[in-house]
Amino acid sequence: MQVRSFFERALRRPRSVPHGLRLAPQLSRGLPVLGHSIEFVTSTIELLFRAQRELGEAAALQVFNRKMVAMFGPEAHEAVFRASDAQLSASEAYKIMTPVFGKDVVYDAAPEKMAEQLKMLLPALRDRRMRTYGEAVVLETEQTIGKWGEVGVVDLVDFCRVLTNFTSSRCLLGREFREGMTEEFAAVYHDLERGVAPIAYINAHLPIPSFWKRDRARVRMVEMITEIVGARRREKREGEDFLQTLMDSRYADGKPLSEHEITGLLLAGMFAGHHTSSVTTAWTLIELLRNPETLARAVAEIDGVFGGGQPVSHQALRDLPFTENAVKEALRLHPPLFLLVRVAKQDFTYKEFFIPAGTWIVVSPTVSHRMAEVFPEPDRFDPDRFAPPREEDKRDFAFIAFGGGRHKCLGNAFAILQIKAILTLLLGQYDFELAGDAIVADFQGLVVGPKEPCRVRYRRRAQPSVSTAAGAELARVAAQGATAATGGGCPVAHPATETGTETKTKTGTGTGTGTGTKTGTGTGTGTNPTDSLPLPRAGEGRGEGVSAPPAPATTGCPVQHSPASAPSTRRLTITLDRDLCQGHAVCVGEAPEVFHVAADGKVEALLREPPPDLHASVRRAAAYCPTRAIRLDEG
Ligand code: HEM
Ligand code: SF4
Repeated sequence: MQVRSFFERALRRPRSVPHGLRLAPQLSRGLPVLGHSIEFVTSTIELLFRAQRELGEAAALQVFNRKMVAMFGPEAHEAVFRASDAQLSASEAYKIMTPVFGKDVVYDAAPEKMAEQLKMLLPALRDRRMRTYGEAVVLETEQTIGKWGEVGVVDLVDFCRVLTNFTSSRCLLGREFREGMTEEFAAVYHDLERGVAPIAYINAHLPIPSFWKRDRARVRMVEMITEIVGARRREKREGEDFLQTLMDSRYADGKPLSEHEITGLLLAGMFAGHHTSSVTTAWTLIELLRNPETLARAVAEIDGVFGGGQPVSHQALRDLPFTENAVKEALRLHPPLFLLVRVAKQDFTYKEFFIPAGTWIVVSPTVSHRMAEVFPEPDRFDPDRFAPPREEDKRDFAFIAFGGGRHKCLGNAFAILQIKAILTLLLGQYDFELAGDAIVADFQGLVVGPKEPCRVRYRRRAQPSVSTAAGAELARVAAQGATAATGGGCPVAHPATETGTETKTKTGTGTGTGTGTKTGTGTGTGTNPTDSLPLPRAGEGRGEGVSAPPAPATTGCPVQHSPASAPSTRRLTITLDRDLCQGHAVCVGEAPEVFHVAADGKVEALLREPPPDLHASVRRAAAYCPTRAIRLDEG
């Protein structure tokens, strides 16, 4: 007996496994030498679902010469996402991006430099900037759907891709790029995208045409960005975009970013944000169309907020809780990034599992989001699971469509804002129905979207609730420096936002011209949809929710008058999880007396127990914090 257990131990556990720990169990059906390689290449997602079903939290796989451990569920995610870069490296796993982002940029840079570079993106993602982006998204959406007729058919995937390409390039690369967006730019960007393929994991410099094109495209992209940087500096123009933020950024030693680095960081933003936002917009609309009662509620909510002529502002968009939950639910069911990877640089321990250095650790939002013990009835599209009292995403590291912890998505607030703005303009103006194409997820690319064709039929609503001139109106409001969207007679003291500052910059600089263009376009295309058609066939699709939208509850105050706004005399204690904080300062916008951005770019709470007159704004800060870094305890 003793002899047998000796051999078992000798065979199964390398001597380096510390006492009391064990290796993660091996997934079944591994082939000699090849392990799980074939299944991994041909049906990755099915393999990962099988791993979770068979082995639970941790499953060991062998893919080619790599040892992998797939980890599932909130506790395992937390261990992975909170680990330091020195322990679990994201860079190592995403090295295939180096030929696109460039040498010594983001994942190719040393961890401290990468952290510094990513931190430079933060000012571009702060609350104040977000207002400008909201405006840009509204404008772009209006221009794109301005070309639609009264009725028609569009391929939703293609439509979302083109639209978010416009919005991303305007917000990230700037107005010059977007407005002069030539065929050359589209071709260069396309070549860069085509140069990112799984084969790069074997060798990112193989002598193949797509890699040659990729390398030529990168050189050209640096030239294009250098031209714009030079022109802005020469003409002393500034933009409200990522490009400007990066032009103004400095390393800790005072050195500015080179054009090579600026290009790399902008491309990192484009790659991270473009397709992910595009497919999420498409998935949300598809799920709403497949679930007519949820569609009716989203439309009613949009009509309620915007039906009274309210501009589609950043502030108003925040207060579409059902629509936002629908976006999150689409992200839960269809997370665009289905595989997140880290490489263990040191031995790593999770519970009783010992994971040796060199192992690739994979986390799959797609699989973990379908665990019934975390999200009951996991296959059901049910936006209310994120609303009180259920709040199924409240459990830390359960909802991981944006990753979590140290490398959590920096653009999550921007992405949600953008998707809600697009949905508001679409659903406020048109009725949609699926045109009958099979809806299937396409797991072939790095970002999982619906397979094309994925056509929808649209018909202009008889009584659109959102004006087609919303972008122009928004630009006008911003230009007046008005605090966005306080509505008539809202009793809540809206914080003095920084909109004024932003507007000043806009009118005083290059972006001012942008505003002019916006107004022109908005009014040109938009105006009165008074020539509306009769409503689509009665009783069809979502029915009543559309034809008879409930009247706005009040005069259009965008703030949820929930218990969150009620005056309080109870004690309120703030706990801030700085590991989760991304420093985009939504909380500072809500409660500047309590939160401030510290030198490391993250937020600090100045008061642990704020006085009762600040409770309402602190509750709003916690409610709007996209990472749930702020916890409140009522005493
Ligand atoms: C629905 C849209 C989006 C989804 C689902 C998404 C998802 C994610 C995920 C899962 C990660 C973590 C990757 C990992 O842990 O390995 C991530 C990281 C990141 N995302 Fe997003 N993203 C979205 C939109 C955006 C946008 C719009 C931007 C910027 C404009 C952006 C910028 C970034 C950046 C810079 C990182 C790297 C953060 C770091 O490594 O510290 N993302 N994103
Ligand atoms: S606490 Fe939340 S809202 Fe405030 S900066 Fe951090 S992540 Fe953003």
